[in-house]
Amino acid sequence: MKLPPLKIGPHTAQVPLIQGGMSIRVSTSALSAPVAECGGIGTIGGSSIPPEELKEDIIKAKKATKGVIAVNIMFAMKNFSTLVKTSIEAGVDMIVTGAGFSRDIFKVGKETNTPIVSIVSSPAFAKLAEKLGAAAIVVEAKEAGGHLGTDIALRDLFPEIRKVVKKVPLIAAGGICDGYEMAEMMDKYGADGVQIATRFILTKECSVPDTFKQALLDASHEDVTLIRSPVGLPGRALKTPFVKRLASGEDLKAKECLYKCLKKCDHHYCISDRLRKACDGDYDEGLFFTGENVHKLKKILSVREVFDQFISQAESVYKEPVAAAR
Ligand SMILES: Cc1cc2nc3c(=O)[nH]c(=O)nc-3n(C[C@H](O)[C@H](O)[C@H](O)COP(=O)(O)O)c2cc1C
Repeated sequence: MKLPPLKIGPHTAQVPLIQGGMSIRVSTSALSAPVAECGGIGTIGGSSIPPEELKEDIIKAKKATKGVIAVNIMFAMKNFSTLVKTSIEAGVDMIVTGAGFSRDIFKVGKETNTPIVSIVSSPAFAKLAEKLGAAAIVVEAKEAGGHLGTDIALRDLFPEIRKVVKKVPLIAAGGICDGYEMAEMMDKYGADGVQIATRFILTKECSVPDTFKQALLDASHEDVTLIRSPVGLPGRALKTPFVKRLASGEDLKAKECLYKCLKKCDHHYCISDRLRKACDGDYDEGLFFTGENVHKLKKILSVREVFDQFISQAESVYKEPVAAAR
């Protein structure tokens, strides 16, 4: 059965698939525009890049596609408000926020007619986001890559949040690797769509260097671990030499705070610097965020091929959602 479109505010994605935002410079317009062209929602990772660069990248993405372009901005960023304002001025279609919870963002969304999508990991925050005016809610579970707000698995967490979100689209995120799981989350669990990130790093269009992609392709289940992030949340990443040194208790404090990027930072290492190093392809010194199920992904595809695969797999099994899931 054909998958339904995903409507968020005034925007419609023909395919109910959001490519998750990935900072720093993992998901840029190079990836997000082709995703939007394929009918999904392409998300630029907006945290910790200069506002001017973000603005140019949004304009580039919007020029390249008539599809839906979002920007993901972590609330934990010191310049969160500036990045939000810059993104709206650049003409982004919607703002996605996570890693903390902003109440003010909903006011900005209303004033500028910009849909706000909240990433949450608990029923309490899902309820609050809906009440404050979120246009959609992403349920991000423990299988996700990057910063995590829960240690609960997607298939346990999602139903709890499904029960309390009544009006706006609810999206499932964390560890989804193929169209069969996409269909399962939608018909069995009642999701209106899915958000996927790690799968999209392993595309021809994703602009990270080959070292990054190869590290993910080579990863076994045991190569993925949890780290403590200076943001104050756990994060899911590859067990690279830097992460092993961190786990052994080595002092990896930066000599000075180079980016002054976080509202609150415990400075036990510089996360901006380490994520940048990953994007420069430095396997030994970089921090490579990844989802838990990366070991299931063994091939680099084009964004079009990912969509074709997800849609054909999902539509081969997708049925009317069970009423009980709603
Ligand atoms: C390399 C990487 C960077 C990420 N950066 C961000 C980010 O900046 N903000 C955010 O809200 N989520 C971020 N995430 C989480 C994703 O957007 C997404 O929700 C999650 O990874 C979904 O799980 P999956 O990767 O298993 O598909 C990141 C994930 C990865 C793998």
